Amino acid sequence: TRILLLNGPNLNMLGVREPEVYGRQTLAELVAQLDAFAQTQQAELSHFQSNAEHALIDRIHQSLGQVDFIIINPGAFTHTSVALRDALLAVAIPCIEVHLSNVHAREPFRQHSYLSDIAKGVICGLGPQGYRFAIEAAVSYIASNP
Ligand code: DQA
Repeated sequence: TRILLLNGPNLNMLGVREPEVYGRQTLAELVAQLDAFAQTQQAELSHFQSNAEHALIDRIHQSLGQVDFIIINPGAFTHTSVALRDALLAVAIPCIEVHLSNVHAREPFRQHSYLSDIAKGVICGLGPQGYRFAIEAAVSYIASNP
C-alpha cells in the first residue's frame, strides 16, 4: 500500500508549538516512527509537510496514479480550505483526516471541517497515535478495496 502522509501549516513546529496541546515530539521524530510502523504493515509511506496551500494541492495532484491512500492533517486549512477539499475530490484518492488535538473540545471555529464529509474517516484527539491508527485503517481499506 502506497500511503502519502500530508501535514499542513505549522505542523513543522511540532515539539515547540503549544506543547500542552500538541505534545513535545518533533515532526521528524513522528515521521520516523510512522515510517517504521508503516514498514511493519507492508505499507510504503511518503511524507510531505507544507505551510503553503498551493504546495499541498500540487502534491495531491501529483499523487494521481502514484498513491493508494492519503492521510492528511490539514492543520488550520481544515477549517478554511475549499481548495484542499476540491483537490482531494479531483484525484479521488481515499483519505483519512487526522488531528492531534481534539478539535471538538477547542474553539468553536475548529469544529467545522471542509474535509470530514469526503474522508473515509476522521481521527482526532489521540495525539501521534492517531496517525498510526490511520495507517492501519488505510492498509485494511486498500486490502478490502483493491
Ligand atoms: C490540528 C488542529 C487544527 O485546528 C489546528 O489549526 C492545527 C492542528 C491538530 O492536529 O490538532 O494546526 O490540525
